[in-house]
Amino acid sequence: MRSITEETNLSDKKILLRLDLNVPLNKGKITDTTRIDKIIPTLKFLIKNNSKIIILSHVGRPKGKFVSELSLKPICEDLKNKINHNVKLITKNINELSNKDLFKSVNEKIIMLENIRFYFEEEKNDEEFAKHLARLADIYVNDAFSCSHRAHASINKIPNYLPSYSGLQLDTEVNALKKITLEIKKPITCIIGGSKISTKINLIKNLIPKFNNIIIVGGMANNIIKYMGHEIGKSLKEEKSKQIIEEIFSLAKKKNCQIVYPEDIIVAKNLNGNPKTKELNEVLPDEMILDIGPKTIKIINNIIDESNTIFWNGPAGYFENPNFANGSIKIAEKISENNKVNKIYSVAGGGDTVSLLNNLNKIDNFNFVSTAGGAFLEYLEGKELPGIKALN
Ligand code: 3PG
Repeated sequence: MRSITEETNLSDKKILLRLDLNVPLNKGKITDTTRIDKIIPTLKFLIKNNSKIIILSHVGRPKGKFVSELSLKPICEDLKNKINHNVKLITKNINELSNKDLFKSVNEKIIMLENIRFYFEEEKNDEEFAKHLARLADIYVNDAFSCSHRAHASINKIPNYLPSYSGLQLDTEVNALKKITLEIKKPITCIIGGSKISTKINLIKNLIPKFNNIIIVGGMANNIIKYMGHEIGKSLKEEKSKQIIEEIFSLAKKKNCQIVYPEDIIVAKNLNGNPKTKELNEVLPDEMILDIGPKTIKIINNIIDESNTIFWNGPAGYFENPNFANGSIKIAEKISENNKVNKIYSVAGGGDTVSLLNNLNKIDNFNFVSTAGGAFLEYLEGKELPGIKALN
């Protein structure tokens, strides 16, 4: 994989730049611009190198049809203001577009094509569509790690027809993920939470051989507590989790990885109930487990202190209610405290973890926080992403 930063001959070159500008929109207004903010350095780099930029992106899932609410127009406007540079949105049908429609005046340096998912060919990974897009440019750049798990034309097929590079944000993301998969500074610990153990089993199994400790918290830990013979009352649980838990423990034993789960918990009668600290064998039939207890927090803090690398995915409890957010807050505080004095390398990812860190204002206290959802998990499950494969 070659990074665009290594290419010296970019002046006047037309760059087809695939971005992930899939930001949340509410009635045409962007509610979180993080994904736009993150790709600004790539645009500035290309502008500085005097390139001509053709931006490709999707927003939402229009399923191959024009949906006016999913136009890139508000995103184009936001981008213009952020880079203080004109960005021309081209709404002409991509299939009818030719070179003479682009960069008509000398001042036109950045253009954006309308939502690539308005065209069914995109998700079909259509060869002709990719070839047609490739003909519009000299170079292709993928700076959309968060959609690189999709085998779509603008991600997976265009690189067959143009010299292709990774963008600055994709480089940053992959380099951070390498630090928890390949170039690991051990001891390395994963703290994994969230509600469903079945959705994280492939991730856990892929990490066990490389990790020293895997700490399982959140709703998914309830299944382990039950498996260990304790009553869990009305707590969230999954049917058929026994086999998953046995697989995890048996692989961990073989690979010498310590699996840690809560030793005490916070319970309540419902999601809005009064929090009570309990031992594992004290949960009543009408109670539910909603957070980890103080003994467990202490154990986790000690493991963090003994680690050089930490990967965190998924909250420790029902953090949406402040009564049950303490476990997640204490983990975030401990990691950021150790990070501030350069004791650890820390990576966090996953929608809930990112929103928790955002609320706590702790994003900058982690070495890397990934905003990629599916792509992030698939990469860490050890899958080869179609977008990365194409660049390689
Ligand atoms: C994302 O938000 O994870 C990416 O933009 C991919 O979107 P998708 O899940 O609709 O393919």
